[in-house]
Amino acid sequence: MNAPPSSPAPRAAALATSAGARILAVTSGKGGVGKTMVAANLAAAMARQGRRVLVIDADLGLANLDVVLNLQPSTTLHDVFTGRATLEQATLDAPGGFQVLLAGSGLVEYSRLTPEVREQFEQLLHSVRPRYDDVLLDTGAGISDVVLYAVSLADEVLVVATPEPTSLTDAYATIKVLAMQQGRAGTLLAVNQSSRTGEGRGVAQQLQSVIERFVRLPAGQAVQLTYLGEIPSDPSVRDAVQRRQLLTLTYPGSQAAQALQQIATRLIQRRRG
Ligand SMILES: Nc1ncnc2c1ncn2[C@@H]1O[C@H](COP(=O)(O)OP(=O)(O)OP(=O)(O)O)[C@@H](O)[C@H]1O
Ligand SMILES: [Mg+2]
Repeated sequence: MNAPPSSPAPRAAALATSAGARILAVTSGKGGVGKTMVAANLAAAMARQGRRVLVIDADLGLANLDVVLNLQPSTTLHDVFTGRATLEQATLDAPGGFQVLLAGSGLVEYSRLTPEVREQFEQLLHSVRPRYDDVLLDTGAGISDVVLYAVSLADEVLVVATPEPTSLTDAYATIKVLAMQQGRAGTLLAVNQSSRTGEGRGVAQQLQSVIERFVRLPAGQAVQLTYLGEIPSDPSVRDAVQRRQLLTLTYPGSQAAQALQQIATRLIQRRRG
């Protein structure tokens, strides 16, 4: 990865050389587009295919993975970071056959990227990487320094966007910042809440052509967008969230669940390939 010396990217490069899981950050730019839903259901879909998967709630401070999974953790990442619990104690089994590390909500100390937060996060990924095949980071929305730092530690980034212009503008801004600040030459894209088949691919092509025109790495190379698929807008998703159940478990035959299963398969193939 080519990165200016001031960026956190060299840390990511150092992490990536150690053996074990590939770390995938799920991010978006715009909030509420479906990151947490996608991360949780991809994890379940990957676990169904035999992968050992951990999802980390990297939305430190405004976590909501616990809500989606209907878990009430007594021990969180905050306890690990403050030395009150071990990683093992904070690691929970989620419905769907994967594990989670939850962050706990409202912790204002994690809204800013301090040297301690950096150090703790990096150490955490070092510790979990050897134990899993895939580690998914469910990040917060936006391009705050906390979000960008979490993303910088990942091997790959999956941007979730909806076809709405505001979501696409924010996805574009995120990809541009990741390229320019972190030297990230490739980004994965999943389009959520599509209203007709093929809309996602059209959106991906539109985004790629704007990226080709306006985004370059610091050393001048082009940035590649890899389209992984679309997830239709589906009432089953809202229903599953309302019930605080995983879509892929409650409505495995729904269009959205099947789309997520396909995206999971593509992600696993990328790792094998
Ligand atoms: N494919 C879909 N079809 C219908 N509704 C959806 C779909 N995807 C997401 N939603 C709705 O959008 C809501 C927000 O999803 P989610 O919490 O995963 O977004 P998020 O990007 O993680 O939000 P935040 O930025 O706050 O972390 C869900 O609760 C669900 O009701
Ligand atoms: Mg979320």
